Amino acid sequence: MLTVRRATGRDLASITDIYNEAIVKTVATFDTEPKTVVEQEAWFANHGSKYPIVVAESEGGIVGWASLSRWSDRCAYSGTAEISLYVRENCQRKGIGKRLIEAILEEGRKAGLHTVVARIVAGNDISVRLHESTGFHHIGVMREVGRKFGKVLDVYLMQKIYD
Ligand SMILES: CC(C)(COP(=O)(O)OP(=O)(O)OC[C@H]1O[C@@H](n2cnc3c(N)ncnc32)[C@H](O)[C@@H]1OP(=O)(O)O)[C@@H](O)C(=O)NCCC(=O)NCCS
Repeated sequence: MLTVRRATGRDLASITDIYNEAIVKTVATFDTEPKTVVEQEAWFANHGSKYPIVVAESEGGIVGWASLSRWSDRCAYSGTAEISLYVRENCQRKGIGKRLIEAILEEGRKAGLHTVVARIVAGNDISVRLHESTGFHHIGVMREVGRKFGKVLDVYLMQKIYD
């Protein structure tokens, strides 16, 4: 059975491990060097009730996570968050991403956020479809802003405004 729940500090090693898998194998994140759990502690501490993190847990442990991070330290942006979403590679395409995005968006609604922004590397069609299916709309493209694995990468911008 799959449970999606708020993350605790005890989940941080699994969250970091799943993120590192994406860092070294994919262009989904523009980080290029694996993170240590100690480095991720500061990231975790910057989240909480307003900027939540959720994890998906199965019998075998944590299989994915999603977060809403503060978009900017400038106070007028406080109702705006950026979404991140990662599922362990061998658990993808089984509906876990969908469960995670629905759960994190609900947490964002409860936290009183106004809008959520997504930056998705061009070509990540499953992620684009997933965001579209939960109320995100295309708002633009940042051209040639990334370079990873020898490729120059565009970023697709999407946004959801809560009703
Ligand atoms: C993108 C990601 C989070 C999606 O999670 P997932 O668990 O693999 O996705 P799901 O099984 O929930 O399916 C998501 C959508 O893709 C569709 N889909 C699933 N498998 C598919 C396939 N083989 N081909 C096309 N579409 C597919 C599903 O129907 C679903 O669409 P819906 O929302 O309209 O129902 C996950 O693949 C991942 O972690 N990828 C690497 C990191 C990444 O890209 N993160 C996002 C950064 S913006």
